[in-house]
Amino acid sequence: MTNNLMSPPAHEEILSVRDLNVHFPVRKAGLFGAGAVARAVNGVSFEVMKGETLGLVGESGCGKTTLGRAIVRLVPPSKGGRVMFRGRDITALDNRSFRPLRKEIQMIFQDPFGSLNPRLTVGQTIGEALRVHGITKGGEATTKKVRELLDTVGLNREYANRYPHEFSGGQRQRVGIARALAVDPSFIICDEPVSALDVSIQSQIINLLKDLQREFGLTYLFIAHDLSVVEYISDRVAVMYLGKIVEIADGDSLYANPKHPYTQALLSAIPIPELGGKRERIVLKGDLPGPLAIPKGCSFHPRCPFATAGCREREPELKGLDGNPGHRVSCLLYQ
Ligand SMILES: Nc1ncnc2c1ncn2[C@@H]1O[C@H](COP(=O)(O)OP(=O)(O)OP(=O)(O)O)[C@@H](O)[C@H]1O
Ligand code: SF4
Ligand SMILES: [Mg+2]
Repeated sequence: MTNNLMSPPAHEEILSVRDLNVHFPVRKAGLFGAGAVARAVNGVSFEVMKGETLGLVGESGCGKTTLGRAIVRLVPPSKGGRVMFRGRDITALDNRSFRPLRKEIQMIFQDPFGSLNPRLTVGQTIGEALRVHGITKGGEATTKKVRELLDTVGLNREYANRYPHEFSGGQRQRVGIARALAVDPSFIICDEPVSALDVSIQSQIINLLKDLQREFGLTYLFIAHDLSVVEYISDRVAVMYLGKIVEIADGDSLYANPKHPYTQALLSAIPIPELGGKRERIVLKGDLPGPLAIPKGCSFHPRCPFATAGCREREPELKGLDGNPGHRVSCLLYQ
């Protein structure tokens, strides 16, 4: 991967997620009964190294946003599970103890318009973030800092007086990034920040994020539903299916040598220009099951072209490959 050529990621863990679950009880009686549970995040473990970008990819509904929201404590984890940030278990902290850490971990969203208050100018929105976290107390210092932040994300300083509806999609995402940067975070969860943008604008925003990463030593968890979006920005990539990580590896290893049948199918959908855009497309059978009815054994078995009888019974673990322990895959073919 080409990311961080100037400053290679340090091999120091900044975030470690251990056996995290987020289950939503479903109150309405229906097909699955009143006591049904949506297992949106279902035993997820991974770590993120300081200064790297970990791409997180999977189909709609597989639990990416819920995982991000659990890391920033917008949703509580269910039963056990830990999120360690810089060696501290942040799931165990009360709100007061978590407060100083809250600004360290920021989130930017797919829909920057939805996440901006339409009645506030962007200067007020960014100023609010500065005040809430005690960075500046208002007045001249806030105005100055807001202008610097707009500069940093490539927006005209005078735009501080404009309202969100006066901006294009790409500009709004820059405002969202400025608001996240306002509190000087070290870790940013980018939840599909370019999915709603035109392709030409997508690369501008991705390049901005890469520049900011170098400048401020940021670490990213970069969520997308498509492996091609994260290829350029990610050092490592995790593939999620029905609330679980099914494969995680260095980008080079994952794109050149995908192991999990689901990753292979996702990759087969990306055209390769060198091959005249052609590669054999693996079309998965059946629909994606929902988090209310996760299949037993390997949850991918109803759609897997290689499934055996054993796959219906036994749940694979996420395990390192022989000779490449950093490339982990959850599939009985390798166990
Ligand atoms: N508060 C909630 N209550 C009940 N179910 C929920 C709640 N939040 C999310 N879910 C369910 O959990 C599953 C995972 O949702 P999530 O938004 O995390 O997926 P996602 O991978 O981010 O999808 P997308 O690519 O569409 O953004 C979905 O089936 C969703 O309906
Ligand atoms: S464990 Fe079986 S069903 Fe699951 S991905 Fe591997 S081969 Fe397919
Ligand atoms: Mg989402």
